[in-house]
Amino acid sequence: MDNFVYQNPTKLIFGKGQIEQLSKEIEPFGKRVLIVYGGGSIKRNGIYDNVLAELGKIEAAVFELPGVEPNPRISTVKKGVEICRQESIDFILAVGGGSTIDCTKAIAVGAVTEADMWDVVTKKEKAQGALPFGTVLTLAATGSEMNAGSVITNWETNEKHGWGSPFSFPKFSILDPVHTFSVPRDQTIYGIVDMMSHVLEHYFHHTTNTPIQDRWCEGILLTMIDTAPKLLDDPENYEYRSTAMLGGTLALNNMLNLGYHGDWATHNLEHAVSAVHDIPHGGGLAILFPQWMRHVLDEENAPRFKQLAVRVFDVDDQGKSDKEVALEGIDKLQEFWTSIGAPTKLSDYDINEESVEEMADKTVIARPEFGNYKKLTRQDSVDIFTASL
Ligand code: NZQ
Ligand code: ZN
Repeated sequence: MDNFVYQNPTKLIFGKGQIEQLSKEIEPFGKRVLIVYGGGSIKRNGIYDNVLAELGKIEAAVFELPGVEPNPRISTVKKGVEICRQESIDFILAVGGGSTIDCTKAIAVGAVTEADMWDVVTKKEKAQGALPFGTVLTLAATGSEMNAGSVITNWETNEKHGWGSPFSFPKFSILDPVHTFSVPRDQTIYGIVDMMSHVLEHYFHHTTNTPIQDRWCEGILLTMIDTAPKLLDDPENYEYRSTAMLGGTLALNNMLNLGYHGDWATHNLEHAVSAVHDIPHGGGLAILFPQWMRHVLDEENAPRFKQLAVRVFDVDDQGKSDKEVALEGIDKLQEFWTSIGAPTKLSDYDINEESVEEMADKTVIARPEFGNYKKLTRQDSVDIFTASL
């Protein structure tokens, strides 16, 4: 494994009823609080009322930015930045899933950075700092609650990019699995696919001697394969929701990849699809990941795929070549996602060959080649999208 430095400053507050910690956590930062949330699920499931009650305890002046879209937009980030500047906001609280948290990260940085936030997202400018912010997570999926990453879409240019900065870690994140009881079935499935995809992105690398990290990754995948069907049958089961919530956080708080860099080509491909078609992130990954695997698999890298197939998907390797075992494992991954109700083809979202070239263009806006396990070019994107139709 390579040398590394790991520091994660986010305080994780996990479990039933932990919302009661909220006022105490915000108090040191000030009383002018902006709450950022999505399309209203937090009003229907009661989380909004509980958050307001907590803010009442410290007599906070509360401002609101509702309406953060799934695949959050730069236009919404700019609205939030405006509120922070006009109202001298001290602290921002994201209440929602990855989209709300990602939008909040961009607002927090945008509020204290002179440059246009889109230039920061596209890495033309650097973040200069951030207002302090925290999160109340309501959906287990992205890991945004304990990392510094954020993914923002520009709907005018059809671009979706990930960015991050040392300033965009949440001060704290409150993770109450009960808050995820109301997540609809489809979003629960997308969340499971997303967290498993994060583990898989980590898993494909060429660094030697990562046995602990490999087993961590395999452990999370095995656990999600075991838990997902039970959770989908029993969505208000606290234990299953807890497992999913912890799984989502661990999959992308950058512990799994201590000492190496994962691949991340599939995330780039998916962001290109949702930049053009606004589809759910996890839905896109369920379609693209198996196709990425089939596309990059060759004789030389087959042993890594074989390890996944044998250890996670229980593929019998007797009398078979590494590549045959690898391909069986890939089929089993796709079968598992299909069995829990994830989509399998881009045409499930009415995406056809007409947009392949446009989506492929989007995969190489930031750089001509992408993916660390295997370098991919625009032509690879065309091939993978075409195989995914
Ligand atoms: O908007 P509301 O009304 O809250 O409804 C949301 C939304 O419609 C709903 N929802 C969330 N919690 C709920 C709930 N409905 C009922 N009960 C609850 N408790 O779920 C829908 C989807 O929410 P969203 O936040 O969009 O989902 P997710 O957490 O999957 O986030 C997806 C976004 O995160 C980005 C994706 O690209 C996408 O833009 N990602 C962020 C990453 C990061 N920051 O580290 C990494 C990921 O790979 C990913 O790219
Ligand atoms: Zn993801």
